[in-house]
Amino acid sequence: MVEKQLFTRAEVAKTNDKDKVLFILHDKVYNVRSFLNEHPGGEEVLLDHKGMDGSEDFDDVGHSKDAMELMKKYQVGVLVESEKTNKSPKKGWVAGYSNATKTEKYVKGPGVPFYLLMGGIALVVGLFFYAY
Ligand code: HEM
Repeated sequence: MVEKQLFTRAEVAKTNDKDKVLFILHDKVYNVRSFLNEHPGGEEVLLDHKGMDGSEDFDDVGHSKDAMELMKKYQVGVLVESEKTNKSPKKGWVAGYSNATKTEKYVKGPGVPFYLLMGGIALVVGLFFYAY
């Protein structure tokens, strides 16, 4: 599990350690220093967001579920409570760690049980009208 070190936005912005490329994504802080060469979107875009809150741009790119899984590895902390935006991420975002808050759950459409239920109701209604 990720150790939840607390950061302020100012701390993230001023960190200028050669071992750290920190940025904020949805109230969580990531160090992508060791990921720069591996990022399929290129290192440039990560460096461009160094010290910043990249949430909007990250969401706009539309990262895959695999990317969401991968980023857990690079999370180094969270923002202090008073500086969190607590905004619901756009569709596709998955929680960075298991005890995430409600707003960070993966946003997806209704699952299979929902469609089965609707199908079942339609069948019952259909049979009702057929019988009478
Ligand atoms: C820990 C943070 C991040 C991780 C683990 C990550 C991971 C990935 C992965 C795995 C992909 C390949 C496509 C996919 O599977 O979605 C990707 C593509 C991309 N990422 Fe990231 N990413 C991170 C942060 C960011 C940030 C902050 C930006 C800034 C906008 C960004 C911009 C992009 C772009 C532009 C692409 C290419 C999309 C394309 O070619 O269609 N990424 N990233």
